[in-house]
Amino acid sequence: MNIGILTGGGDCPGLNAVIRGIVRKGIFHYDDRFLGFLEGWRGVLENHWVPLDLQSVAGILPRGGTILRTSRTNPAKREGGLDQCIRNLEQHKVDALVTIGGDDTMSVALKLCERGVKIVGCPKTIDNDLTGTDFCFGFDTAVTVATEAIDRVHSTAEAHNRAIVVEVMGRDSGWIAIYSGIAGGADVILLPERPFDIEEVAERLKRRHGRGRYFSIIVVAEGAKFAETGHSGGPVVQDMGRDEFGHSRLGGIGQVLAREIEKRTGFETRAVVLGHTQRGGSPTPFDRVLATRFGTGAIDLVHKGEFGMMVALHGTEIVSIPLIQALGETKTVDDQLIAVAEGLQDPSQNGTQMTIRKAG
Ligand code: F6P
Repeated sequence: MNIGILTGGGDCPGLNAVIRGIVRKGIFHYDDRFLGFLEGWRGVLENHWVPLDLQSVAGILPRGGTILRTSRTNPAKREGGLDQCIRNLEQHKVDALVTIGGDDTMSVALKLCERGVKIVGCPKTIDNDLTGTDFCFGFDTAVTVATEAIDRVHSTAEAHNRAIVVEVMGRDSGWIAIYSGIAGGADVILLPERPFDIEEVAERLKRRHGRGRYFSIIVVAEGAKFAETGHSGGPVVQDMGRDEFGHSRLGGIGQVLAREIEKRTGFETRAVVLGHTQRGGSPTPFDRVLATRFGTGAIDLVHKGEFGMMVALHGTEIVSIPLIQALGETKTVDDQLIAVAEGLQDPSQNGTQMTIRKAG
């Protein structure tokens, strides 16, 4: 078959491992030919592509980023964009397309599927917020980077008697925050799932220091919100602009929080924003394996004719699920994991469990 591949949305470690898995299995086992569309949907829309063969995927397994590059282009937002994509796919006689991306990329894939394009999806995001799959590759690497950073700030915080706020990515879900927070032994973990009361955060830190500790580490997800603004209030954003899929640029809560903590506790407080370091660099072995399983699983789905489907991880199994399932609600951190974090913390004075509170 003549198969197109694209990577869309924010990059994440493991994308190259998926591409390699698809191409190697496709060539060795199915005698396929591959075209790589460049920069996500932009490549399909503007007809930018490269041939992909065994040579093109040699040595890319441990490399971060994506050899196909990526963008947040949304053809559905352009006049005649979807039709143009279909014309370009027809021109190249593309029998099937494998789209590697998150919910935004999959939303375009679904629209094209509805118009008859044969598409198989492969989920990716460091945020781990896609419904329908237990884990996305890229997440484990992001958590590893964040955990190492938390370990590192521990020693400098301790040396200076400081509180340090570590802001991690994750958009509207707190997966990276809770995993890295638990793994890094953070004293406070703040998630978008549970708006936090700043007074409670300050109280907790004061009690900790009262017990003889002289430093604290606070992990905050970029999408976490102050309880005063509630679920309906927006998170802290870097600017008011939105991308083609309607997302604002989150970021900045770390600084705001550090200021508020210092004001209330008198502890010298610093903020560190991990930002794109979480998305860069070599994938962990877990992500390399998961990405390879997704890649080989995706090419198998193409040859089984399971179009409009996406590979996913359920427990330890790679399964296929309808693309539309990836477009459901954001997968947020489950209560069980939140209970683990809460279990490590002393209850606040009013009897509730610390800062990780259920939204009222
Ligand atoms: O979705 C992945 C992600 O890294 C989010 O965690 C973050 O909010 C966003 O992308 C950042 O996007 P950009 O790379 O466009 O700044």
